[in-house]
Amino acid sequence: MRGLLLAGGTGSRLWPVTRSVSKQLLPIFDKPMIYYPLSTLIRAGIRETLIVTAPESTDQIRRLLGDGRQWGLRLEYAVQPRPEGIAQALLVGEEFLAGGPVALVLGDNILHGAGLGRKLSEYTTLTGARVFAYPVANPSAYGVISVDEAGRASSIEEKPVVPRSRYAVPGLYFYDGDAVKIAHGLRPSLRGELEITALNEEYLRRGSLRVTVLGRGAAWMDAGTFTTLMHASEYVRVIEERQGRKIGCVEEAAWRAGLIDNEQLRALALPLQKSGYGEYLLRLATEPGRQNSPTGGTGEDPTAVP
Ligand code: G1P
Repeated sequence: MRGLLLAGGTGSRLWPVTRSVSKQLLPIFDKPMIYYPLSTLIRAGIRETLIVTAPESTDQIRRLLGDGRQWGLRLEYAVQPRPEGIAQALLVGEEFLAGGPVALVLGDNILHGAGLGRKLSEYTTLTGARVFAYPVANPSAYGVISVDEAGRASSIEEKPVVPRSRYAVPGLYFYDGDAVKIAHGLRPSLRGELEITALNEEYLRRGSLRVTVLGRGAAWMDAGTFTTLMHASEYVRVIEERQGRKIGCVEEAAWRAGLIDNEQLRALALPLQKSGYGEYLLRLATEPGRQNSPTGGTGEDPTAVP
């Protein structure tokens, strides 16, 4: 399975801040926003990802992430000329995906929770589609999914005025090889976008949309407005300062997955020492028994209750 990380758009809900800098490069506390979804993909076991950007931000983003080799990844770049919907990323990535399955993640979505990495890696071999459901106070701002008692999706709607459930659909989607074909058949919505919800609706119609309800122990946030940007930063700061563990740290995720060794982690840490970020990486490299096997580990305490 390959990854598709959507970092397009004009960021207009954050203007003037994002007039000259890509939204996905803004900081969420101590690291760029895009590190979080990239870490999510690494924890799911994805090693090859296409970063889809707005035309003016490819260079900025490439300067930060490069070709991914420093983290044991393969990163490529493609441009979405205009912000015409999340599902359009599948069309931009058609060649890269080469008919195979895909994990699509939005560049401003942050997912954090015990056992999440292990759970996500189960979805990298699938038939149909897998989405998530997360209870929120304001479902109307999102794609909204209804889940029946057996855990099956019964409806999915984009930003309904009267939501049928409290479950929002986070910006992380797993699809089999049919997704691109389905995306080709979509027509723009009233807001002029190829809606990811319309694609999910088609999987639902075919009876192959699966849903995982994320419990209260998981945190999902998007950081697309001034307030949610602050919320996400505060959340990350509080947890990191309390636990002494970073959230969304790409270097750590790569190291725990066995993609880079202690030596490589140390080399990545050295130029980052002044900010404290490098100190953290150096500490990881010296902690005994922390690196997991190349089959991929999460660094979570196996005895912890999720
Ligand atoms: C988009 C999707 C929506 C999803 C949300 C997650 O919303 O359209 O279904 O719940 O991302 O962040 P938008 O960012 O376009 O408002």
